[in-house]
Amino acid sequence: MVEVRDLHLTVTASAGPVHILAGIDMRVEAGEAVGIVGPSGSGKTSLLMVLAGLELATRGEVVVGGRRVTGLDEDALARFRRDNVGIVFQAFHLIATMTALENVALPLELAGRRDAAARARETLAAVGLAHRLTHLPGQLSGGEQQRVALARAFAPRPRLLLADEPTGNLDITTGRAVMDLLFDMRAEHGTTLLLITHDPALAGRCGRQIRLADGRVVADAPSLVP
Ligand SMILES: Nc1ncnc2c1ncn2[C@@H]1O[C@H](COP(=O)(O)OP(=O)(O)OP(=O)(O)O)[C@@H](O)[C@H]1O
Ligand SMILES: [Mg+2]
Repeated sequence: MVEVRDLHLTVTASAGPVHILAGIDMRVEAGEAVGIVGPSGSGKTSLLMVLAGLELATRGEVVVGGRRVTGLDEDALARFRRDNVGIVFQAFHLIATMTALENVALPLELAGRRDAAARARETLAAVGLAHRLTHLPGQLSGGEQQRVALARAFAPRPRLLLADEPTGNLDITTGRAVMDLLFDMRAEHGTTLLLITHDPALAGRCGRQIRLADGRVVADAPSLVP
């Protein structure tokens, strides 16, 4: 599902070049759940941005679902994301002026789906928000907002879901509930999941863990079953 070969990301800062990703190689099979761990600044978010095509690699190759992402132009990248990738960030990134239902329906409408509203309603019901369809993000709790973001990411049934500390802004109980939902929906749809987390217990729920340090993979192993 995901193949990364000799991936480099270098940016030029005032103090000189910064090697954010310094030769990443990894391969993730369809249906796998992989926890991406490593210290702050090790390049986890940057890796996710390159995989999603939101950041351009300096060197190397990214192939997602047989499609070479590196080398696509802006339009092709936008289409690739729309058709293949769901993304959930730590800060929910919902559109403040749109209701929960509109937030979830928007990517479906952009993909030209005629059943956008029905699919959005159904997915919001699946995350326990059937009674919050017409609320604006500002009228929802943090956990509810993240469940809307989850519904938005899952509604188009992406083959690949990228999640960057999706429970980082939530209290422990709410975070656990959101994470249960994420794993339930992943199991139901067979979604390949890359989950960035600082929480060892969460990383342990993924079948495999990849550890980054200084922009490199320093460990890649199956999770030990508790
Ligand atoms: N545009 C940029 N210019 C310069 N340096 C950058 C830029 N973007 C990221 N970096 C640096 O790249 C490194 C990796 O950042 P990244 O956000 O990928 O880390 P991370 O592993 O996600 O960390 P955290 O766990 O704190 O979220 C950091 O040292 C960061 O300062
Ligand atoms: Mg990060």
